[in-house]
Amino acid sequence: MTDPQIVLTERVQQALAHAFGPEHADADPLIRPSQFADFQANVAMSLAKRLRRAPREVAEAIKSALSDFPGTVDVSGPGFLNITLDDSWIESEAQRVLADPRLGVGSIAPSQTVVIDYSAPNAAKEMHVGHLRTTIVGDSLARLHEHLGNTVIRQNHLGDWGTPFGMLIEHLLDIGEETAVAQLEAGMGTEFYQAARAKFDGDEAFKQRARVRVTTLQSGDPDTMRLWHVFMDATVRYFNKVYQLLGVTLTDADLAGESMYNPMLQKTCDDLEASGAAVISDGALCVFPPGFTGSDDKPLPLIIRKSDGGYGYASTDMAAIRYRVHDLKADRILYVVGSEQALHFRMVFAAARVAGWLPDTVSAEHVQIGMMLGKDGRRFKTRSGESIKLFDLLQEAIARATAAISDRGYDEATKSEIARAVGMGAVKYADLSVSHDSEYVLDFDRMLAFTGNTGPYMQYATARIRSIFRRAGIEPSDAKGPILLGDPAERALALHLLGFGSLVEQVAEQSEPHRLCAFLYETSSLLSTFYEQCPVLRPEVPPETRASRLALCALTMAVLETGLGLLGVPVPERM
Ligand code: ARG
Repeated sequence: MTDPQIVLTERVQQALAHAFGPEHADADPLIRPSQFADFQANVAMSLAKRLRRAPREVAEAIKSALSDFPGTVDVSGPGFLNITLDDSWIESEAQRVLADPRLGVGSIAPSQTVVIDYSAPNAAKEMHVGHLRTTIVGDSLARLHEHLGNTVIRQNHLGDWGTPFGMLIEHLLDIGEETAVAQLEAGMGTEFYQAARAKFDGDEAFKQRARVRVTTLQSGDPDTMRLWHVFMDATVRYFNKVYQLLGVTLTDADLAGESMYNPMLQKTCDDLEASGAAVISDGALCVFPPGFTGSDDKPLPLIIRKSDGGYGYASTDMAAIRYRVHDLKADRILYVVGSEQALHFRMVFAAARVAGWLPDTVSAEHVQIGMMLGKDGRRFKTRSGESIKLFDLLQEAIARATAAISDRGYDEATKSEIARAVGMGAVKYADLSVSHDSEYVLDFDRMLAFTGNTGPYMQYATARIRSIFRRAGIEPSDAKGPILLGDPAERALALHLLGFGSLVEQVAEQSEPHRLCAFLYETSSLLSTFYEQCPVLRPEVPPETRASRLALCALTMAVLETGLGLLGVPVPERM
């Protein structure tokens, strides 16, 4: 392990045990970055209270018990331990990370099976901006877990079933399959839905047909199923167009929509009722998970089957959680879904625990996605008030990126390749760099800026390093150092990069891609200072300094590219 914070934690813990007895070996030494040194350990203060000794004295005792310590320690103030790492230690650790193809990122052992439920647009409606974030955040989590050696099972829980499909299929018949398919493939799901809805509300005969169609659909009538497939296939082709443009890793093999659980719903209900986990209340089959009450203090039901015999969103989610634990053998299930569904998921998880379908060994987590807002601070909409088409929004980002790089003299093909990487990188990075559960303002100008914590800035940082290597006439993989730290800017950059491995592990553990963004942003900032302070290719730079700085550039580039890869942000070679 190379992360200084972890190495120092271990060493100080050993010192604690040595100085005060083995019962203190697990105490958290509270190692934090410091203004006055590389790190400080604050443990002496809290420990002093328990030991009834003066904090400074405790700090001194820790200091003298430290052994095999990669730095120097000063006791300051009331009892802070200020830690400065040895340059030689940073150099050799940086050298080790440079030589490690995984850049210090470990593999989880034993590896876990992580089921990730994300994207999940609804077929009966347009895939809207709200689905953008769950798609992007979920995809990054999938990449992170795969990188750590976990088995990832993606589940795209499409909204592809339910009563609206009666009117949708009737409308499809009215306008003809060919026209319908063309519309759906073009992403006009909302328009399609609205047209069907208008007829349903205004045309009694149509309404009647739609109702009958729901029944034939539910009974699995082959003709109706064929029409449903025509509808769904065209819809999925549109979703795939969006996924492809975004460069997300979802494929048709990951489709696991609501319809997939249809055959399991009856048994889901029967089993819940037979085990006593669910009871009939006002004609509906309900689970009353402990700890949930409504505004009237009455227990809150999770409705598994409505009083008219119909199934709903919760029915499907109960079947799905059982399937994910039992059939997919999940150790961990991540639901990357809008935060407005928080209560629903808490109840589903609690109900599944009551039913015994979610053992304590499996964790189910709702990775809450905050709402997307417009610049005006309201839910993101177009001027006409409808939610904007995702595909159009992505095209606009690419168009703006094209304009931003238009004066750089690239030929058309190169330009469009870079613009796509920059545009999609900007959208994805903007989504990821904000904590997933906070609201998020969609602002093209900000996300496409070439400075600040943005995708283009990170991409630019890597392109800049690539251009140094082009000018140096060597491959980054040939820059092997040795790394020698002279200037403070080199030291700060190298020290920072040592934290990459454990950060990636924490980001996956906590489902917090925004912390990876923050790390990469810090990397780019330190890189900028390094560029200002430390010439690499100038003739007066001695050969060993040049070799060291090139190695540091190579390491920084590898960390930036790997990190952006884990976020799903494309990295163009030049910009
Ligand atoms: N289709 C749903 C929506 O758009 C999201 C589904 C999330 N996954 C789940 N297992 N309920 O809100």
